[in-house]
Amino acid sequence: MKILCTGGAGYVGGACMRWLLRHGHDPIAFDNLSMGNRGSVPADRLVVGDIEDRDALSKALRDHGAEAVMHFAALASVPESIEDPEAYYRVNVVGTKNVLDAMLDNGVKLILFSSTAATFGFHAEMPLTEESPQSPETPYGTTKLAAEWLIKDYAKAYNLGYGLLRYFNAAGADPDGAHGESREKESHLIPLTLAVPLGHREKLLVYGGAFDTRDGTCIRDYIHTEDLAQAHQLTLEALKPGVGKAYNLGSGSGTSVLEVLRACEQAVGKPIAHEITDPRPGDPGVLVASSERIKRELGWNPQFSAIQQIVDTAWRWHVDHPNGYGGAQ
Ligand SMILES: NC(=O)c1ccc[n+]([C@@H]2O[C@H](COP(=O)([O-])OP(=O)(O)OC[C@H]3O[C@@H](n4cnc5c(N)ncnc54)[C@H](O)[C@@H]3O)[C@@H](O)[C@H]2O)c1
Repeated sequence: MKILCTGGAGYVGGACMRWLLRHGHDPIAFDNLSMGNRGSVPADRLVVGDIEDRDALSKALRDHGAEAVMHFAALASVPESIEDPEAYYRVNVVGTKNVLDAMLDNGVKLILFSSTAATFGFHAEMPLTEESPQSPETPYGTTKLAAEWLIKDYAKAYNLGYGLLRYFNAAGADPDGAHGESREKESHLIPLTLAVPLGHREKLLVYGGAFDTRDGTCIRDYIHTEDLAQAHQLTLEALKPGVGKAYNLGSGSGTSVLEVLRACEQAVGKPIAHEITDPRPGDPGVLVASSERIKRELGWNPQFSAIQQIVDTAWRWHVDHPNGYGGAQ
């Protein structure tokens, strides 16, 4: 299929673009490069544009002859969303509306949306299933849930097919070394941890050591981008107008911050300096997914998401790319 990937030059979008190319699809990225990297997608598969610009989106869909959209582009930092909700509503909600409107302009009927564990309440029972209550507790989560609602309402009225893919913690790098996690402003645990042995940071700050967890640090569910990419392919291929799917995507097992740190030390072969500091607002103690629904319905079969495998692939990529992609240009 011909697919327009908003945010396709970013971390998860870039991994999905590669996977789709390897599996016979024809994706292009539509990205403003605010967080993404020009070097992460082939030059002839990148349209530089902003999802705040409906006309540019419409033109990109038309020029590519797109049959489906994968909508990865978003602002995605919880602490930043608490400080600046205006930007989050503008990009994540109004931006999603622009994507949908541009689809209507061009008769594009299928959309996959990058949603998140942050749309769920913090105190729900773990693991989180698709039936767990969605009551986000941060502006990031609220804007992503609002985008889910927009998509569902448009789908009902305009006969769209949609997939809401709620990732837990995306992590890891291409096993063949081609694509990894590289942002100028990094907020994700594994690249921040590996930045210490690479000499880019003095130490890792561990936010909170007194959560009600086995070692006091936050527990999250890490899912490899290759496994996320497989979920996108399977969901896309199961969609048609009038069909809507929502899936939680995680490994089903939780790993604490200190366990991630140990896995990184194992990959690197030496200790990594760290300091436990205050918890950040908006960080729940535990988030773990149940992904039984997509396994049952679509045969999703995650292969890369053991924590050591995730960290080993990430470390290999960072060793080969000590300065990441080197920024947007
Ligand atoms: N990384 C995770 O652990 C995680 C977890 C849950 C959900 N998600 C969601 O997955 C998606 C991708 O996340 P990621 O980690 O790859 O993030 P990322 O920041 O690496 O990628 C986002 C991409 O969107 C682009 N972008 C941002 N604003 C844009 C705009 N206005 N117009 C066009 N492009 C724009 C950025 O340049 C970047 O390339 C996001 O929607 C995020 O909310 C990510």
